[in-house]
Amino acid sequence: MSWVRAGNQQDNAELSATKVVIGENRYGRPVEGLVVGPLASGEWVAYVNRCRHQPLPLDSRPGEALIDADRQELICAAHGARYRMRDGVCTAGPCPGEALVPLRLERRGNEVWVEPPTDAVLQSLR
Ligand code: FES
Repeated sequence: MSWVRAGNQQDNAELSATKVVIGENRYGRPVEGLVVGPLASGEWVAYVNRCRHQPLPLDSRPGEALIDADRQELICAAHGARYRMRDGVCTAGPCPGEALVPLRLERRGNEVWVEPPTDAVLQSLR
């Protein structure tokens, strides 16, 4: 799968997490990426939307906050794992030290694009 357009984001946009389908796992189920930005540094980051505790998307419970109140971490709705936005490392919860799978990201003007992971990574996801 080639690069996927994740949206048209303005430089002054509010911090947000945007989901985009980046492929299928070995069961033919869609795998999503989370594109997050702009961070305080102005950077954008992208991760596979899959918790390291259990194979669930971070937003498996609709209505729960995905971004913490301090806008520094992503929170898994299932059991509260907290991941630093800038590097995807879990700082608290049931899987400390584990990290979200990063995705390459490119800004093309105001558009944000993500590169899907390799087939081997996609196939390893449940
Ligand atoms: S599945 Fe994410 S914290 Fe348990």
